[in-house]
Amino acid sequence: MRTYLVTGGAGFIGSNYIHYMFDRYDNDIRIINVDALTYAGNLENLSDIEKRDNYTFVKADICDREAIEKIFAENEIDRVVHFAAESHVDRSIRNPEVFVQTNVLGTQVMLNCAKAAWEQEDGSFKPDKKFLHVSTDEVYGSLDEGDTYFYETTPYDPHSPYSASKASSDMVVKAYIDTYGFPANITNCSNNYGAYQFPEKLIPLIINNTLQGKKLPVYGDGKNVRDWLYVMDHAKAIDMVCEKGKIGEKYNIGGHNEKQNIEIIKIIIDTIAEMLPDSDPRKAHVNYDLITYVTDRKGHDRRYAIAPDKIKKEIGWEPETMFADGIKLTIQWYFAHQDWMQHVTSGDYQKYYEEMYQ
Ligand code: NAD
Ligand code: TYD
Repeated sequence: MRTYLVTGGAGFIGSNYIHYMFDRYDNDIRIINVDALTYAGNLENLSDIEKRDNYTFVKADICDREAIEKIFAENEIDRVVHFAAESHVDRSIRNPEVFVQTNVLGTQVMLNCAKAAWEQEDGSFKPDKKFLHVSTDEVYGSLDEGDTYFYETTPYDPHSPYSASKASSDMVVKAYIDTYGFPANITNCSNNYGAYQFPEKLIPLIINNTLQGKKLPVYGDGKNVRDWLYVMDHAKAIDMVCEKGKIGEKYNIGGHNEKQNIEIIKIIIDTIAEMLPDSDPRKAHVNYDLITYVTDRKGHDRRYAIAPDKIKKEIGWEPETMFADGIKLTIQWYFAHQDWMQHVTSGDYQKYYEEMYQ
């Protein structure tokens, strides 16, 4: 039975990935989830999983070398799937320091502990071990409008403190691959959307504000483009790269779903208007009047777009969920989980750990 050490599993993508893995492998795998439970970590995302015998939660900071070493000492880890990071561009503009701390130094701690556990006396690594570093397409910088794409060979050109910290962490992983032959892959994915996303990011923020009749803040002219990837398609891609990715390679993961921000916002308003019954009093305020143009983000990247050709050719993965379907599933999820949103926006979710794990 393989043991996975997942970092950041209480966050958005990490918790979806853990759900995906237990749905797919059930009792054939073990998962240890290590998460510091920052403002973005929410154990309610995993409340249906915490009683499983083959799941363990460890509250620890990835920068805490002793805590991470202890996990490796007590368990034979086969896969590290490294999600833990500070992930929000706007926060990185206000406070870059914690981004360098967690994203760069934390990644280095994870690499060092995995290397120490997996390296054999002759300098080779134990067989069938893999470290998968989850990164972003934002490391490649910004594209203009047109038909150019990010490829794995595109030079790094990060602009925000967030993307600079992720680019640095990718370089540290690459250094371990190149110097020690360390068994790692790097994946660079586009913007994810789906269930359990913290409502500071565009899609859950717009869904929540629309339902509450609050203004919908559009940065700049609203024509910045992101390439949206349904989070469950991403979870599947990560699993496939873990199993089939050639050691040392990097893979871009994208959704083939390029959209301007303003298009996304209008789709969300239209979809919510369709879903609400006429008798629902909220229906009266669900319209384009909520859209409010605000000051642009500093250094706002214009367009991200990924060509996921390599992962398709070498691994056989391609995105399965079209935006029109994924956004409906996502809005339906937020509709059905308004208590989750209420706990997150009120801060109540942070009490959950104390209650559950006291
Ligand atoms: P998230 O912010 O929702 O979750 C991050 C998780 O990491 C949280 O559970 C948080 O508590 C944990 N964490 C933060 N600092 C930690 C520390 N020092 N020690 C231990 N745990 C810590 O992020 P996400 O959107 O799920 O992103 C996951 C990964 O995917 C990140 O590495 C991010 O850079 C990358 N990524 C995200 C997107 C996206 O659209 N969300 C796109 C590309 C890449
Ligand atoms: P975001 O979800 O923060 O992801 P990222 O910056 O990593 O791409 O933002 C997605 C896009 O939406 C980005 O172009 C900024 C824009 N945006 C808004 O226009 N208004 C908002 O309130 C937010 C959070 C983002």
